[in-house]
Amino acid sequence: MDIKLNEDQEMFRKMVADLASKEFAEKAKEIDKTHRFPTENVKLMAECGLMGLTIPEKWGGAEMDYICYALAVEELSKACASTGTIFSAHLSLCAVPIYKYGNEEQHEKFLKPLATGEKLGAFALSEPGNGSDAAAMRTSAVEDGDFYLLNGSKAWITNGEVADTYLVLAQTDYEAKHKGVTAFIVEKGTEGMSFGKPEDKLGIRASSTTQIHFDDCKVHKANILGNIGDGFKIAMATLDGGRIGMAGQAVGVTRAAFEDSIRYAQEREAFGTKISNFQAIQFKISDMATDIDAAKLLIYRAASAHDRGEKFSRFAAQAKLFASEMAMKHTIQAIQIHGGYGYTTEYNVERYMRDAKITEIYEGTSEIQRIVIAKDLLKEYGI
Ligand code: CAA
Repeated sequence: MDIKLNEDQEMFRKMVADLASKEFAEKAKEIDKTHRFPTENVKLMAECGLMGLTIPEKWGGAEMDYICYALAVEELSKACASTGTIFSAHLSLCAVPIYKYGNEEQHEKFLKPLATGEKLGAFALSEPGNGSDAAAMRTSAVEDGDFYLLNGSKAWITNGEVADTYLVLAQTDYEAKHKGVTAFIVEKGTEGMSFGKPEDKLGIRASSTTQIHFDDCKVHKANILGNIGDGFKIAMATLDGGRIGMAGQAVGVTRAAFEDSIRYAQEREAFGTKISNFQAIQFKISDMATDIDAAKLLIYRAASAHDRGEKFSRFAAQAKLFASEMAMKHTIQAIQIHGGYGYTTEYNVERYMRDAKITEIYEGTSEIQRIVIAKDLLKEYGI
């Protein structure tokens, strides 16, 4: 068993790390403060071939594996978590399902411009009245000749108003509950589609999060992804893949906190010596490094199972659960290492803590990950 990245993966990781540290890290603090969506970062990611990273070359992508996807989210998020979020939602929650479940015509029309980065994608599952209970969605889609009329609202949509292409889940048959959910590809500008105001968030503040409203929004039948009634399974499988990236994001943010903490501990003096000489600080640093490595191994297990075409849902949930909780724990410790300075915006550690928190919530809360893990284990052990 080889748990080392191969040469191509290592080269790729270094390329993204260089891009992110040169181009995205410095402005991360400013765009967090001003809530400015970094259009220029998206353009650069597109130029570097990231926006279609795991999509086949035939459709304008780079045809790389999910280990590389996780590495990309990690390195981007280490520099700027908002940029990691924008990238991940676009690729794993929109482009990937359109590739996996779409037909040739949908690939040509929707996937290609997403993979090249000409267009930005979003995923619209949650609603104001339901998040974790995804099957309880109220947005309806009613057949009307060659079209479906969508009515309802979606909430917490990453890339909300800035995206061009939306994967929208709606009920085509309430009675059938989750079996009545259908996935639609909806283009911005479709009549009857409008956006709420951007959410004022604790973290990932430069990413756009909005509600989307559908008011007799007329979507052509050609835009149905997969079959009628397949939407819930498409959404669940899509989130399985996205969770690998969110675990990568948690690792990236924790690594940023870890590196800043080591640097600070080696500069700051107290009681006549560098604070890095105190065991109280060393223990925190050791725990951070150990948990970061453990999270990476969980991610590599999930991503490599995905890449081999094996079952990976539980592995992805375990990676996200562990990585996001360790990110929260250690970004708080990074503030503690920085003392009073860590509590101010002069240093980045307070931002890392704010950014870490969302990884315990979006793409399934930690509680939902535990449900996914437990259900799978109980099934496996036949209890
Ligand atoms: N892949 C494929 N199919 C799956 C699946 C998966 N991972 N998980 C479940 N299914 C299938 C089941 O096999 C079952 O199929 P059958 O009816 O044929 O047997 C069906 O889906 C229903 O499964 P469950 O009974 O397990 O469904 P449930 O209603 O009990 O819910 C849940 C399960 C795990 C709690 C699910 O609702 C869930 O994951 N909730 C969290 C939703 C979530 O992560 N939201 C995040 C929003 S998106 C976001 O954050 C992005 C953004 O832009 C910010």
